[in-house]
Amino acid sequence: MPVKFDPRNKEVLLSPARRKSLDMYRLLSLIPILPHHAIADIGCGPGFFTVPLAKYLWDGKLFAVDIKQEMLDAAKEAVDSERLSNVEFVKSTERRLPLKKDSLDGSVVAFVIQEAAGRESLLKEIRRCMRTPGWAVILEWHKKKSKEGPPVQQRIKDTDMMNLLKKTGFRVSTKRDLNNQQYMIVART
Ligand SMILES: C[S@@+](CC[C@H](N)C(=O)[O-])C[C@H]1O[C@@H](n2cnc3c(N)ncnc32)[C@H](O)[C@@H]1O
Repeated sequence: MPVKFDPRNKEVLLSPARRKSLDMYRLLSLIPILPHHAIADIGCGPGFFTVPLAKYLWDGKLFAVDIKQEMLDAAKEAVDSERLSNVEFVKSTERRLPLKKDSLDGSVVAFVIQEAAGRESLLKEIRRCMRTPGWAVILEWHKKKSKEGPPVQQRIKDTDMMNLLKKTGFRVSTKRDLNNQQYMIVART
């Protein structure tokens, strides 16, 4: 079974070093998000992506989804401190998203698939909730050793991730490196 990120280390996900290596201005410019979209931040953790995404969605809605209540509580604290009112917090289970079919324009799935117990079923579940046309952005670690990040054995090669996306009903649109350790895939429904 893949190792899950330990919520006790959640501050690492909000560190200044991470903000430098994953610049949100740059990331947002690469995502096909529009201000009226309904999107889900799947495996939101303590809200690193949740807050900037919710700010961008000035006329839209964000579902912050996680299997761990501690992560949802931390994300809520971050969202509340910015006085954002367009975020709904949703507790999911490993293979099931309690979101309606065809309810999302977009999904952000950052560093989650490699630690999901059922990679294919989670992606299928995300696909079920998405409208056509829609977009999904997957961020993951390259499958090579690095000081930080999950064990290399559970990381997913970018080419394998693209195949997984195709298998679960997505069309791969672009793949790029975010830095020398992490990549991003934009997929379409
Ligand atoms: C490494 S953290 C990344 C958090 C956040 N996306 C970020 O990049 O800051 C992975 C998160 O995914 C959540 N997670 C793991 N498996 C999941 C699943 N099957 N469905 C939803 N969330 C999951 C974990 O609880 C954790 O909060």
